[in-house]
Amino acid sequence: MRAAFEIPPDVVALCDYERLAGARLDPMVGAWLEGGAADGLSHAANLSAWGQIALEGRLLADLRGASTALSLLGMELAHPLLLAPVAYHHLAHPGGEAETALGAAAGEAVFSFSTLASTPLAEFGAEARGPWWFQLYWQHRREDSLALIRAAEAAGAGAILLTADAAVKLRNTEARIGFRLPEGVRAVNIAGFAQAPVREQPGRSPAFLGALETAPRWQDIAWLRGATRLPLILKGVSSPRDALLAAEAGFDAIVVSNHGGRALDTLPATARLLPRIADALQGRLPILADGGIRRGSDVVKALALGATAVMIGRPQLHALSVGGARGVAHMLSILRAELEVAMAQTGCASLKAISPDLIWRD
Ligand code: FNR
Repeated sequence: MRAAFEIPPDVVALCDYERLAGARLDPMVGAWLEGGAADGLSHAANLSAWGQIALEGRLLADLRGASTALSLLGMELAHPLLLAPVAYHHLAHPGGEAETALGAAAGEAVFSFSTLASTPLAEFGAEARGPWWFQLYWQHRREDSLALIRAAEAAGAGAILLTADAAVKLRNTEARIGFRLPEGVRAVNIAGFAQAPVREQPGRSPAFLGALETAPRWQDIAWLRGATRLPLILKGVSSPRDALLAAEAGFDAIVVSNHGGRALDTLPATARLLPRIADALQGRLPILADGGIRRGSDVVKALALGATAVMIGRPQLHALSVGGARGVAHMLSILRAELEVAMAQTGCASLKAISPDLIWRD
């Protein structure tokens, strides 16, 4: 029998980790991880849209000294692959977020620590080796959001990533399977915080009767901007108009994302969102993008469509469940090597050379 968390030799692409994770994870965890909102249409679209875009191959380019390096928010990064915030890493591995972050550091990737992480922030920060960002879900009471920000700053976070697209959600897959967190796994950093009161009234949505009363609004962003000196990033942007509002509100970057298809179902795939948002912003803010990125060629396409860097969601938990920190580092090295191959095949010696002309237009 294969030892736990040993990487099998036939794992050569991210889909191999997904396949093995499907066999390894508890079915309830698998349903939570793979599911999207409602009918899962945006998640499916995220995955298929990259494959429907064709690239223009280029020959005989001078690729000596080629590099995937970039500067982002004052950081010098070896490559444009970051880990997206994902809740409850203990569902995939007993080492939880610390294990993933170890793999991220080995793979030279920025890690994102979710508000719904299953590890205490201070404990995580004391062990963290590489750069990491804190993902904020706005709390019912402003002082609780502030407490999270202060705890993240004290623990060494390099940026605050406000996710604003998930104040309410419709998750049929989770509801059908009766998803519950197992004993011992919970969002430890918000345990004891007040939740929005859910009031019942026949025929009225609990969203309108509670959850949205204290959800963040554009007017709250000035307070958030004043609450921290760390770079602020808005995650979940799917509208060109919101991208412009984000620039005006003082965000330092945005993440174009439909939350891996887990927010409003039928939002366009990220590959379709990117060009219009990049066109609206005209370079005013760096754009990160996530959703269905599984190949190095997907990364080239995202950058050609206007992204500066990309974030990887589900594959980090696939790799974590199969190979622990080594799995995460290996997953990142696969994607990085694929990115280098795709850059070489499109004649790009640097990320800056990846331009919209690389997208094949019939
Ligand atoms: C997420 N995502 C997410 N985002 C966030 O800001 N905070 C969170 O706690 C979570 N949790 C979470 C759990 C699970 C199981 C999934 C699949 C996703 C969204 C995540 O950051 C990212 O936007 C998507 O996962 C990107 O799509 P791919 O790469 O998974 O296709």
